[in-house]
Amino acid sequence: MAHSQLVASFVLVVLFCGASSASSHGKGPRALLQSVCPSPGSPNPCYNADGSKYICCAGSCPSIPGQDPYCAGGPPGLSPEAKLEALGINAVNRNGPYIGIVVPNPFEIVSLLTSSTFTETQEISVNARIFHVGSIDGKKVVVVQCGLTHVNAALTTQLLIDYFYVDKILHYGIAGGADESSNLGDVSIASEWATWGLWSWQRDGLTPDDPLPLEAFGDYTREIGRLAFGNYSATGPMTPNSLNSVWLQRQELFKLPDAETRVQTLFFPADAGLLSIAGSLANLQLDDCSNMTARTGCLSKQPKIVIGARGVDAEIFVDNAAIRDFIGATLGAPGKPVLTIDMESSAVAMVATSNGIPFIIFRSVSDLAGGGAQENEAGNFFGLASGNAYKVLTALIAGISGYDA
Ligand SMILES: *[C@@H]1O[C@H](CO)[C@@H](O)[C@H](O)[C@H]1NC(C)=O
Ligand SMILES: *[C@@H]1O[C@H](CO)[C@@H](O)[C@H](O)[C@H]1NC(C)=O
Repeated sequence: MAHSQLVASFVLVVLFCGASSASSHGKGPRALLQSVCPSPGSPNPCYNADGSKYICCAGSCPSIPGQDPYCAGGPPGLSPEAKLEALGINAVNRNGPYIGIVVPNPFEIVSLLTSSTFTETQEISVNARIFHVGSIDGKKVVVVQCGLTHVNAALTTQLLIDYFYVDKILHYGIAGGADESSNLGDVSIASEWATWGLWSWQRDGLTPDDPLPLEAFGDYTREIGRLAFGNYSATGPMTPNSLNSVWLQRQELFKLPDAETRVQTLFFPADAGLLSIAGSLANLQLDDCSNMTARTGCLSKQPKIVIGARGVDAEIFVDNAAIRDFIGATLGAPGKPVLTIDMESSAVAMVATSNGIPFIIFRSVSDLAGGGAQENEAGNFFGLASGNAYKVLTALIAGISGYDA
């Protein structure tokens, strides 16, 4: 789960490193210019043509600046091979493989980037994403912030896989707790991830016994569950209307080695080997006190790590107890409750699965997705939740062998 207001400011800081006051050609004393790029990984400011904007680059700047600032090797028009060489990605990949880490939002990646266990050696910008190359506790990683929801998560995960030599994907973030047993601060390392964002909206007048369009072709199904809106009224007593029902659907997975073979898939399983490493983390001590807002305080229950449940997501921020209950009842199973609801994880799971790359995902509970007694808790607990997720990340990485920097 994420709050869009929280996203904005940090992104600007990372991409532009502050506003420029450069002279018209963007040239000046080198020492002065360097001081505006604080990251040792990207010490060089590169300006656009009129010097009004710049970005911080790891390598040199282009000799003929264009309309928008870019780093040498960055402008469009190069062959893919030339781009990889110019951006320094080939050199990074010769040092691989790396563990790829995808993180949704600024407040979730900040605990990683500011941690003393993380060492950054290089930042490489590809298609408006910054890939942080470095190590966590001595293990080689490439870390990238994908942004909110499915499209961002999917395209960034695919960029990471296409450009960088990563052979495992780790994804973490905060989430809404979706089950009676979910408490604030808990971290769920689920074994299966599903989207609850794909639906077939049924025509008015048809009944639950009528097949959906294209159902006969195997594209859509009435087997998972439906929400009936047809007797709903937002303004008064239940009134029949023409909304009928929406039926929850599976994703269409394309998976190697079979090109263009579509497999209707509801749950994407995490890698068994990574889950068994996670199994040793059950007793990891998580933080239970939040000190980030005016309403500071400690949780009444010590947060726990839960391994092997389910997690779901969609392009919907859930703060509603009824839909939370529907999701739990529809996508949970005995011994496999849906513990978390977020907005990116199954997209990362699906892209990793489609590419045949093992993944593991964990989400920490920042709010109760509408199931709590008071207002949504995320504003007070996202710091604690993302801190706990990072704690699990470092412990997990310590358990993965290889990747020594
Ligand atoms: C609305 O209620 C009527 C009467 O109980 C029922 O026949 C109909 O199926 C309901 N509509 C939906 C969409 O479930
Ligand atoms: C509380 O704040 C301090 C200082 O900012 C920070 O180092 C610490 O990690 C925070 N603790 C929690 C549980 O958020």
